[in-house]
Amino acid sequence: MKFPIRPRHAIRILTAAGAALLTTNGFAASPAWLTANDKEIKALVGRMTLEEKAGQMTQPNILAIKDASDIENLFLGSILSGGSSDPKTGNALKDWVELYESCQKRALKTRLAIPLLYGVDAVHGHNNVLGAVIFPHNIGLGCTRNPEIVARAAEVTAKELRATGIQWTFAPCVAVPRDIRWGRTYEGFSEDPSWVASLGAAAVRGLQGNSLSDPAAALGCGKHFIADGGTAYQGVPGKALLDQGDARMDEATLRAIHMTGYPAAIDAGVGTIMPSFSSWNGEKCSGSKYLLTDILKKELGFEGFVISDYNAIDQLVAPVKGDRSAESNNASGQVKTANYKKCIEISINAGIDMVMVTDRYRDFVTLLAELVREDKIPMSRVDDAVTRILRTKFALGMMKKDADLMANSALQNEFGSEAHRAIARDAVRQSLVLLKNEGKVLPLSRQAKRIHVTGRGADDLGMQCGGWTIDWQGKTGEVTTGGTTILKALVDAAGKDTAITTSRDHQDAKGADAVIVVVGENPYAEAKGDRADLGLTAEDSASISEAKAAGIPVVVVVLSGRPLVLGSVAAEADAILAAWLPGTEGQGVADVLFGDAKPTGKLSFAWPRSMDQLPLGNDRVKPGDSLYPLGFGLGY
Ligand code: BGC
Repeated sequence: MKFPIRPRHAIRILTAAGAALLTTNGFAASPAWLTANDKEIKALVGRMTLEEKAGQMTQPNILAIKDASDIENLFLGSILSGGSSDPKTGNALKDWVELYESCQKRALKTRLAIPLLYGVDAVHGHNNVLGAVIFPHNIGLGCTRNPEIVARAAEVTAKELRATGIQWTFAPCVAVPRDIRWGRTYEGFSEDPSWVASLGAAAVRGLQGNSLSDPAAALGCGKHFIADGGTAYQGVPGKALLDQGDARMDEATLRAIHMTGYPAAIDAGVGTIMPSFSSWNGEKCSGSKYLLTDILKKELGFEGFVISDYNAIDQLVAPVKGDRSAESNNASGQVKTANYKKCIEISINAGIDMVMVTDRYRDFVTLLAELVREDKIPMSRVDDAVTRILRTKFALGMMKKDADLMANSALQNEFGSEAHRAIARDAVRQSLVLLKNEGKVLPLSRQAKRIHVTGRGADDLGMQCGGWTIDWQGKTGEVTTGGTTILKALVDAAGKDTAITTSRDHQDAKGADAVIVVVGENPYAEAKGDRADLGLTAEDSASISEAKAAGIPVVVVVLSGRPLVLGSVAAEADAILAAWLPGTEGQGVADVLFGDAKPTGKLSFAWPRSMDQLPLGNDRVKPGDSLYPLGFGLGY
C-alpha cells in the first residue's frame, strides 16, 4: 500500500554556529530560478526534433565515445567522466580544460547550438584532477557539524570545477548509511538523518552559490534517491554485502530516515537528483514511478532533472538466459541486458530525465526515439524531461547569446591555491574526533625532545585521501597529486627543539617522549569497500603493540572511511584520534596533535566495540553499548 501525500513536517536546519532551528519544509518547491525561463524553454522544445530531444537525454561516458563527431551528430545533451575516466592526454588541469572545451565546441556546432553539461564526481574537491585540493570525505565533514565549513568546501570545489570548464558534479551524497560495513559509508555525512539534511543542504548552497549563473558556481546532484544507505546486509561470499542491495523497510521508516536529505537539498535549490542503484522492497529505485515521479517530482516539488546512475537502467530487466550480449559491463559489475529497449521504456516512464548510458549511447538514442514513435513513451514525458534539462542550462546562464562556455581562466589561477588549501586544512581540523586522551597525552608538548612517528598511514597521501581520488578506487602510496602527509606536517609543525623521527629511517620509538602510530584502511570505493570484518589489519595491530612495548605514551591516529573495530587497541592506546579520510591537507591533523587547534569534532556515527554489534546505530543500541556513541568527542 502506498502512503498518502506526506504532511508538512519539520526539518532541523543548523545555523553556522551549530544551533538548531526548526523550520517547516514540507512540499519544498525548487526556487524560482529553475522555472524562470519556462516560456523560452517551451518555445525551444517546440522547435526540437525527436532526435534532438533524445540526444539531450543521453549522457555517454567520455571514454566510450566512439567518434567525437557523435557529440554533434547525436545532439548529445551531456557527457560524463566517471571514476578513472581521465582525458587521454593526461590528468593535469590543462588536459581537462582541453577535453571539456573540445566537447563543448562540438555541441555548439549543432543546429540549435544547445551547450552540453559536463559531469564528474567531484565528491571531495575536484578529485580527478592532479593538483586539486582534496577535502575530507563527507564522513569527516559530518563530524564538524558545521554547515558553514561544508558550504565553503563546496564553494572551493565549484571554483576548481569551473576552472576546468566542468559545470556539474554528482554531489552531495545525502545517503544515511545505517550499516558501516557498506563501502560507501564515508560518502555520507552521518547516520543521523537530521545532520545529513542540514549538511547536504549546506553543500548544495556552497556549490550552487547565490545564483547558478555565477561563473564560479556549479550544478549539484543529490544522490542516491533513496535509501542507498539502508540496504539489508547479505552474507553471500563473493557478492556485494550491501552495495546496490535492497532496502527492506516500511514507507514510514523510509521517509523518516532516508528521505530527509532530499527536501532539504531541493529547498537549497539542487538542480539534479540521481536515483539509487538499489531497490526498495525489491523494486529498483531507477524504475519506480512512485518514487521518482509521485514522491520526488510531485510531492517534493523537484523541478530540476533526474539523472540515472551509471548504467543503472540496464539492471531493470533481467538479462535473457544464454544471451551472449549479457556480459559484465564496468568495474561496478553491472550487467548489460538484451532487453535494453524495455529498460529505457521503464526508466523514462518512471521519471528519469537523462540517462548515464554510458557506452550504448548510439543504441539508446535510436531506441528512445523508437519507443516514442511506438507510443510506448509519451511525447509529453520526453518534453518534460527535456524541459527540465534545459532549465538547468538556462539557470547556469549557458543559453545566453553571449555566454562564455569555455573554461574560466581567472579561476585557473586559483586552482589548488594556498587559499583553497587553507579552507581544506580548516575543514580537517574541525573534522577530527578525539576519542581517548588518557593522562592528557595530547596535545603533544612543545618541550618534547623527540616524537616518533610510525604506522602505514603516517606518510601515505593515498591512504589519507581514500577512494574517489585521482582513481575511482583511490590508491595507497604517493598519489601523484600535491598535498602534505601527516608525517611531513608533523615535521613542519614541530618546533626547532623537537625532533621527529620515523621508523622508515630505521629508528625506533624507544627513548622518545611519545609515539604516534597512524593506521587505518586502504582506499576503496563503492561495493569494493563492502566488508564483513572491520577489524584493524594484523600489520596495524602489530605497529601499535610494538609502539606500546617502547613504554612511552602511544597516540593512535585512525585513517578510515568509517569506525573500525579497535579490539585491544582501545585499551592499549593512551590517545586515539579519528581522522577519517582527511584529504591532501595533513597539516590539519598536525595542528590538532600539537594543540594549535583544539579538537571539536563529534562522531557522525556510533563506534562499535565488536563486529557482532553491527549494524549499530544510536537509536538501535542502548547508550553505553557502543564503544563511543554518536555525537561523542573529547576536547583539550
Ligand atoms: C556511482 C555514482 C557516480 C557514478 C558516476 C556510479 O558508479 O554510483 O555515485 O556518480 O558512478 O561516476
